[in-house]
Amino acid sequence: MHAQTPSDPAPRFSFPPLITVQQHILSEQRRFQGVSGEFSWLLSGITLATKLIEAKVRRAGLSDILGVQGDVNVQGEIQQKLDVYANDMLLHALSVRESVAVMASEENEHPILAGGSPNAKYIVVFDPLDGSSNIDVNVSVGTTFSILKRTGPLNQKATADEVLQAGSQQIAAGYVLYGSSTMLVYTAGNGVHGFTLDPAVGAYVLSHPNIRIPDSGPYYSMNEAHLEDTPPAYQRYVAGLRSGKYGRKYASRYIGSMVSDFHRTLLKGGVFLYPPNTERPEGKLRLLYEANPIAYIAEHAGGMASDGRQRILDIKPRSIHQRTSLVVGGPAEMQAFERIMAET
Ligand code: AHG
Ligand code: MN
Ligand code: MN
Repeated sequence: MHAQTPSDPAPRFSFPPLITVQQHILSEQRRFQGVSGEFSWLLSGITLATKLIEAKVRRAGLSDILGVQGDVNVQGEIQQKLDVYANDMLLHALSVRESVAVMASEENEHPILAGGSPNAKYIVVFDPLDGSSNIDVNVSVGTTFSILKRTGPLNQKATADEVLQAGSQQIAAGYVLYGSSTMLVYTAGNGVHGFTLDPAVGAYVLSHPNIRIPDSGPYYSMNEAHLEDTPPAYQRYVAGLRSGKYGRKYASRYIGSMVSDFHRTLLKGGVFLYPPNTERPEGKLRLLYEANPIAYIAEHAGGMASDGRQRILDIKPRSIHQRTSLVVGGPAEMQAFERIMAET
């Protein structure tokens, strides 16, 4: 044994490199200008909150956290206890990040001005728990988030209106899926990367680098109970998917949890759609914190996302809880969809 001298070669390890999400963000930070240390600190707030949420979700049947809270949120939807808990964790973890100026959540009527530093430059919008009505029956749920930069002058207090930016202005977006394993999928504009939470060590570890959505895939995914109430173009599209008109006879998969339905679509290919229907002429999903992050990830993975009229990321929002129809998937399915819409 001799002490290591500066001339010794770097030690060689026989196990594969383990890349945590923090390491990954830091290495992106070195490679790309504009990705700052503040940004990685902000993202660590999101990963911390999602680990707290996942711990609660995993023990849900054992603690007094299942069931309804007794309140109705701003969307008129019954809040589950876990919705409230997940929201509290994100608000807490982000409000202590000095770089966060504004937060907006599905569970809060108005945007929340965070206490951050006067130069705080980021806005974070999120759905703390997506698919929460499924939680009582042990079906996968998720968290979606989107990060924007402030548009107002940094030396002035942020205004709530600054949240109303088109999805194309996102600088990062992601989701966490609390499924058979817990997985974070995110992009800061340089590829879509998936990290699986290693429960033994409590770290998100890179498991799916550079995810690309398949050019074409086997499944379409929608709540078909609404099919007769959707515009005729959507009905023709779904009939085409079923009949083999677009090169294969698609099979159907629907969980009713957007993050899970999209995650399958991203990895296996195909299309997920929540069209407008007579009861919900604007669609059901929320533009800012559901459709936008999903659309941003889909595009960065080689897919497309549309509201039936335009690219989701081009929609200029009018209000923070605005709803939209959403069709998102791989290139083959989306081109077929756009052809049908153009004929209409
Ligand atoms: P949330 O739980 O945040 O309110 O979202 C529920 C959403 C979404 O996850 C899913 O795609 C959709 O509701 C399912 O709606 P239907 O029950 O109408 O199919
Ligand atoms: Mn949701
Ligand atoms: Mn929700």
